[in-house]
Amino acid sequence: MSNVAIRNLQIQLGGNKVIESLNLDVKAGEFVVLLGPSGCGKSTLLHSIAGLIDTTSGQIEIGGKDMTWADPKDRGIALVFQSYALYPTMNVEANMSFGLRINGTPKAEIARRVARASDMLQLGPLLKRKPANLSGGQRQRVAIGRAIVREADVMLFDEPLSNLDAKLRTELRRELKQLHKQLGATMIYVTHDQVEAMTLAQRMAVMKGGVVQQFDTPANIYSEPANLFVATFLGSPGMNLFKGKLEQEGGRTVFRNDHMSVDVTDYPFKQQPAGKHECVLGVRPEDIDVGNCDGAENVVCASVSLIEAMGAHRVLWLDFHGTQVAGIVQDQQHLETEKDISFSIRTKRISLFDGASEQRL
Ligand SMILES: Nc1ncnc2c1ncn2[C@@H]1O[C@H](COP(=O)(O)OP(=O)(O)OP(=O)(O)O)[C@@H](O)[C@H]1O
Ligand SMILES: [Mg+2]
Repeated sequence: MSNVAIRNLQIQLGGNKVIESLNLDVKAGEFVVLLGPSGCGKSTLLHSIAGLIDTTSGQIEIGGKDMTWADPKDRGIALVFQSYALYPTMNVEANMSFGLRINGTPKAEIARRVARASDMLQLGPLLKRKPANLSGGQRQRVAIGRAIVREADVMLFDEPLSNLDAKLRTELRRELKQLHKQLGATMIYVTHDQVEAMTLAQRMAVMKGGVVQQFDTPANIYSEPANLFVATFLGSPGMNLFKGKLEQEGGRTVFRNDHMSVDVTDYPFKQQPAGKHECVLGVRPEDIDVGNCDGAENVVCASVSLIEAMGAHRVLWLDFHGTQVAGIVQDQQHLETEKDISFSIRTKRISLFDGASEQRL
């Protein structure tokens, strides 16, 4: 097992600054996910760790050694691409063992490794087939198998499941998690799918414009997003946002706008705000109580504009003075569109962001 430490990494491609002074510490044996919108630099970062792209400045350390300029084959890493990149003329067994054969690994050792990987990935019955005769999920398993046989300390995955249908994606996701436990390798996994990120990651780095916005456990990032971008990137529906001002009133701190006022005195401010402060209040749909709000604080009124039945729960869209507010309803209460309904915000679960910097307060 090897750790991966990235220090002040900068990468320019064709005059574009794609990665900017990026720092990331991945512990040995950890499963880290890089999550971010298309074009934010996830693949570039992964490829630079693999040694497929030159860094402009900064350092990449793998297993405690400076590997910034090391040859890809000397880095102790294996990379799985989104496109399976299998050799069409070779069968599954030959595809998996190809890398080992060209670097002169003894035959018996190759057989042991291929058997182990095909066991793990249930590829045994497919070993003699060519890629053209495999399903997408099976091809991706072979591509993963090819990475496993290298017995690398660090495994890198670039959106390996994005070409698969939803059901297969969920299955392979579970298998990958299991594989991580069995292999104990350090894994860095790129995706723009938040469900994949939340379920696989021990820690995840949310990226935007080549910059890591937050690096923490999925649970912490979800409940305490570091800024407005992270807050809205995660969650479906996303976090509800209300613009307003923080005001000091007789020892209390109150969030206020034209339509609501919320006492936020007990909010764990990083720094106590002084005077009036432009601010955005965020609350997740599951932290909005709809209907039965008797006795709750901060009750306001809205009208139901849409009800989405999701099976286990319903998503309720509320028209609140022209803003669409999403709430999640678990119970069986009778709801109709166009009807007025009250809702309240669970004050203990809110996030507050600075109106100008958009950073968490
Ligand atoms: N060779 C290149 N020359 C110039 N710009 C490049 C080059 N390769 C990538 N870029 C730019 O770098 C940025 C990051 O690309 P990258 O492929 O790392 O994004 P990504 O996060 O992996 O996106 P996706 O989710 O779509 O795969 C993009 O804006 C892209 O246009
Ligand atoms: Mg990419």
